[in-house]
Amino acid sequence: MKATPATGKIGILTPGLGAVATTFIAGVMAVRRGIGTPIGSLTQMGTIRVGKRTENRNPKVSDLVPLTKLDDIVFGGWDIFEDNVYESAINAAVLDKDLLNEIRDELEAIQPMKAVFDQKYVKRLEGSHIKKAETKMQLAEALMQDMRQFKEKNNCDRLVMVWCGSTEIYIPESDVHQTIESLEDGLHNNHPDIPPSMIYAYAAIKMGVPYANGAPNTSCDIPAMVQLAKQYGTPIAGKDFKTGQTLMKTILAPGLKARSIGIRGWFSTNILGNRDGEVLDDPDSFKSKEVSKLSVLEQILEPDKNPELYKDLYHKVRINYYPPHGDNKEGWDNIDIKGWLGYPMQIKIDFLCRDSILAAPLVLDLALLLDLAKRTKMSGIQEWLSFYLKSPQTKKGLYPMHDIFKQKEKLENTLRYIADEELINHLGLDYYTD
Ligand SMILES: NC(=O)c1ccc[n+]([C@@H]2O[C@H](COP(=O)([O-])OP(=O)(O)OC[C@H]3O[C@@H](n4cnc5c(N)ncnc54)[C@H](O)[C@@H]3O)[C@@H](O)[C@H]2O)c1
Repeated sequence: MKATPATGKIGILTPGLGAVATTFIAGVMAVRRGIGTPIGSLTQMGTIRVGKRTENRNPKVSDLVPLTKLDDIVFGGWDIFEDNVYESAINAAVLDKDLLNEIRDELEAIQPMKAVFDQKYVKRLEGSHIKKAETKMQLAEALMQDMRQFKEKNNCDRLVMVWCGSTEIYIPESDVHQTIESLEDGLHNNHPDIPPSMIYAYAAIKMGVPYANGAPNTSCDIPAMVQLAKQYGTPIAGKDFKTGQTLMKTILAPGLKARSIGIRGWFSTNILGNRDGEVLDDPDSFKSKEVSKLSVLEQILEPDKNPELYKDLYHKVRINYYPPHGDNKEGWDNIDIKGWLGYPMQIKIDFLCRDSILAAPLVLDLALLLDLAKRTKMSGIQEWLSFYLKSPQTKKGLYPMHDIFKQKEKLENTLRYIADEELINHLGLDYYTD
């Protein structure tokens, strides 16, 4: 086994204690009390084949590698609102009140720490529970202090941070993002291309605390953060939880491509009415989401290599804020495909999903697997966690892999590698060549 044991407690810290984070926290508490099942979480429910098929060994993922037990998790986080986790979960209206009331004491005990926030980066939000300092570097130091205090107070052995904050405006990579020195200069001089999510990422990475970005804004996916992560031995992963419509897209598109079925157009539209939907109603925040959602098909279908099938594909993604639906998003896809001799056909998907119900298990898995990576002495970008992300971060020069089945293979082989098991390539060549 390459990983050290998961001894002691772990603190999972989330910047942002809104719908996703509270659904994750309340969900883990419900599972711990035996009043819920962690459906959607590979680390809790999944099994993995190891060895030859004839050996019939299919342990649970949690029996193959040493993962932190749910009972050993302590929760914490930051938000721009003072609401405790119970109040915030009630506002988010994702989980039933009855369920929340059963774990009310535990939820109420989690009070958000003061956030690092600037409305310039999330225009639709206004809050008052915010840290004040002269420079962004001082804010980063205040976050590091929060982490140290949290760790000590809760007697934690290790920490992990998963960004569950609102989507910030689109910030393209610029000069300040290139090196650790330029980033640190920028933090001292309040450079406008450093949004709050980068300040959290910097603080976590520098403390050796693994960091994942669940939103589509630029955060740990800049060269300076990657260098910092290598220097401090910190695993990182980003970005944007793969849920809902994009999850469906990365399940369906590889199947159509595998059968050489052409696609002429893919129109995706969503209506949702939670706070995330309100933030994404601002064009600058939507731009971050759009960039993240659009790249998926291009990479899976490779139109340059398959021009007859995909060259003229028209791909459009829309998100509309519609309050009556709350967190229960509705995602429609109209897919115009073409078959034998170019004959047109259509596929329609109407996914009545629950956004935070799909995202909560991803927060848990990302946190536990990043912690496993850290205990395996793996650092920098953890591409094997692409499975969970809409816009996976890769090493410079490599394109991201979006096909969910390839992502799953990479994840499983990484787990086998950590457990000192043979990697599986599904070839079975000896059968044909005997
Ligand atoms: N639910 C999904 O399926 C899904 C999928 C992919 C990505 N996401 C992303 O996850 C994030 C969270 O989604 P949500 O539905 O929980 O949104 P939400 O609006 O309910 O919660 C976000 C919380 O973050 C807080 N916040 C904003 N900026 C902050 C900062 N700088 N520091 C601390 N707190 C801050 C807000 O006050 C809010 O409480 C969003 O960025 C969303 O785009 C969600």
